[in-house]
Amino acid sequence: MTPAPVTPQRPLVVAANRLPVMRAADDSWTPSPGGLVRALLPMLRGAGGAWVGWTGVVDDDAAPFTLDGVELHPISLSPSEYDDYYEGFSNDSLWPLYHDAVRESSFKTQQWDAYVAVNERFAASLAEVAPPGAVIWVHDYQLQLVPQMVRELRPDATIGFFLHIPFPPWELFARLPWRSEIIEGLLGADLVGFQRLMGAENFALIAQRLGLLADPTAGEITVAEPNQPTVLATATGRHVKIGAYPISIDVEEFSELAAERNVRRASATVRSGLGNPEVVLLGVDRLDYTKGIGARMRAFLSLLDDGTLDAERCVMIQVATPTREAVEHYQDERHEIERLVGEINGLHARIGQPVLHYLYRSLSLEDLVALYLAGDVMLVTPLRDGMNLVAKEFVASRRDVNGVLVLSEFAGAADQLTDAVLVNPHDDDAMRAAIVHAIEMNHTERTRRMAALRDAVARSDVRSWAERFLEDLTGIAPQQSGRDVS
Ligand code: ADP
Ligand code: F6P
Repeated sequence: MTPAPVTPQRPLVVAANRLPVMRAADDSWTPSPGGLVRALLPMLRGAGGAWVGWTGVVDDDAAPFTLDGVELHPISLSPSEYDDYYEGFSNDSLWPLYHDAVRESSFKTQQWDAYVAVNERFAASLAEVAPPGAVIWVHDYQLQLVPQMVRELRPDATIGFFLHIPFPPWELFARLPWRSEIIEGLLGADLVGFQRLMGAENFALIAQRLGLLADPTAGEITVAEPNQPTVLATATGRHVKIGAYPISIDVEEFSELAAERNVRRASATVRSGLGNPEVVLLGVDRLDYTKGIGARMRAFLSLLDDGTLDAERCVMIQVATPTREAVEHYQDERHEIERLVGEINGLHARIGQPVLHYLYRSLSLEDLVALYLAGDVMLVTPLRDGMNLVAKEFVASRRDVNGVLVLSEFAGAADQLTDAVLVNPHDDDAMRAAIVHAIEMNHTERTRRMAALRDAVARSDVRSWAERFLEDLTGIAPQQSGRDVS
C-alpha cells in the first residue's frame, strides 16, 4: 500500500549515510531491504523528493540517478574518509560513546576533521538539490553537523534530524572533545527526534550545561510523552523542538511473509534439520559488541553446564551479520563469539548434533522470517540499543500468537514491548533466570504475552512513525527567512 505523501506541496529531501539502494548482480540498483527505506521512498516519490547518501563503495563517483521516481544523489567517500569518517569517528568514537561506553572510544583529530569534511559535503549537496522551501530530513549519528551547516546555506528550508541510536547522558557525552560542536550542529534543526524520552532529556540537559540554551539556569527540562515535542529556546534566539519518536517496522510486510507457504515450510525444515528439539532459542543480530551476544551465550553455557538445560532437548541458533569488520572492537567481538561457539559445542554437542548453530552471514528476509517462526524463545539482549527492530520483527511474524521474547531493558523497544520477559543483560543470574522462565512458560501465559506484544507492535508501524515526525516538523514555519512555505 502506498501512503499519500505527508506534505504534498513541500518537497522532501532525505540525507542518510547510506543511499536506500544496493547494486544488483547485473550492476543495476535495487531498493535496500528495511522498513525505513520502504516507508520513506513512497513519500519522496509523491513529493518530488530526493535522497542524498553514500553508495557503500569507496571512491564511487556515481552520477545522480533516478530510481522509481526518486532522485538519488551519491556522496563520494575516499578510502581515507572511509577510514576516518566512517570506521573512525562514526564507528570508533561516537558509536561506543553513545552506547554507554561499553567499549573505549578513540578520539583522534584527524578522524574529527574527516567527519567535518564529509558532513560539509552532505550539507553542500542538500543545499544544491533541495527545491525552494523543501523539508530536509537528516538521519543519524554520522551526520550530526549537517543541520546547522544546511541552515547556514539554505535558511528557507525546514530541517529535521532523527537519531537512530541512543543519546548518552552528560557524564559520557562530556568526554567528547568536540561536544559543543556536535550539539550546535544538531541545534541547527527545527526538530530533533530521539528513540526514547531519556535521549531527548539527555540532549536538553547537555545543551543547557554547554550554555547553548537561552536560559542556562532554567530548571530540569522534561520530555513527558513520546510524540509530544518540547520546545527549547537556544542562545542564538531560535526555537528548536525535541522529542521522542520510537521507530518501528513495516508490520504488514512481516505478517504477510509469515503467512507464505514457502516461509512456513522453510521454518519446519529448520526445526527438522535441528532434530526436532523441544526448545529452540534464537538470536539474530549484527555482530556488534552492543548486542550482548556473548552474555546470552554465556548464560546458555552455564545452564548446560549445571544441567538446568539438556543439550538433547534444547538448542540455540545465533545468526550474526558481518558488520564494520575492519574496526578492532568488532574483530575482538567476533573472536570472542567464535571462541564461545567452539567452547559450547566442544563441551555439549554430540556427533552430528551441535547444540549451538552459528551463522556468520546475512540472510534473505524470507529466511529470517522462517527463523523467527522456528524459534520458541527469541533472545534480544543488547547492552544498549537505540530501538532494536529484530524484537519487533519477531513479534510481527508470530501470527500463531506463540513464542516468547526475552528482551533487554536497555533496548529502546523495551518501552513499547513491556510484555516481553525483560532482563538486565549485565546480570548473569537474571539472564539465566529469564531464559529458564521463557522456556518453562505455560501456554496460557505465552499466548497472553504474545497477544499483548502484537497489539503493541500493531499500534505503530514505520509509516505512522515517519508521518508523525514529519507532521511535527512541518508544523514549524521556517524561522530565518520568515517565508511561509507550507
Ligand atoms: P541495528 O540497526 O543495530 O543493526 P536492529 O535490530 O534495529 O539493529 O536492525 C537490524 C536489522 O537488520 C533488522 O531489520 C534485521 O531484520 C536485519 N538483520 C539482522 N540480522 C540479519 C541477517 N543475518 N540477515 C539479514 N538481515 C538481518
Ligand atoms: O542502528 C544504526 C545503524 O546505522 C543502522 O541505521 C544501520 O542499518 C546499522 O546501524 C548498520 O550500520 P552501517 O551503515 O555501519 O552498516
